[in-house]
Amino acid sequence: RKRFEVDRQRTFAMIKPDAYTNIGKIIDAIYLNGFKISKLKMSRFTPATAGVFYGEHKGKPFFPNLQQFITSDVVVGMELVAENAIDKWRQLIGPTNTAVAKTDAPDSLRAYFGTDGTKNAVHGSDSNGSVKKETAFWFEGNPSDRPMKTTAQLNS
Ligand code: PPS
Repeated sequence: RKRFEVDRQRTFAMIKPDAYTNIGKIIDAIYLNGFKISKLKMSRFTPATAGVFYGEHKGKPFFPNLQQFITSDVVVGMELVAENAIDKWRQLIGPTNTAVAKTDAPDSLRAYFGTDGTKNAVHGSDSNGSVKKETAFWFEGNPSDRPMKTTAQLNS
């Protein structure tokens, strides 16, 4: 390894249905903060694939809301590369609840683009294990690729 190389790490990031129309600004923020995008794919969750992706939250009181929201329109999944990418991305997106993000991390993506506890604009993997699982799911195993229609298309 050459001396000037940094320890690169990958993370899985996702722009949620409430924020994909802000994709330009979010991608600007990604590059301005020193990440590189190595993969990017727009697709749409079905209730079933949302249950797989968010499997660890099935049965929690907020799960029905989460499932309803995340299937409401398309999302954009990305593999990001940077030094310390997992923590760095979670830092940039801010706290899970948008109300908390607005007070505690006013420059975070959730503070800028989120609305409330459900509509919080972006997702970031929380561990190396989640990165592997979520990246594989989104780029190799997502069976809901066919109905990749925005709600605008569906209503036109
Ligand atoms: S937990 O129980 O601590 O693991 O939950 P948390 O990490 O805070 O959140 C897990 C994901 O569920 C989403 N979430 C919600 N969605 C809809 N409505 C409500 N009230 C809600 N609360 C939490 C939260 O955004 C997390 O999703 P991701 O995609 O990881 O941000």
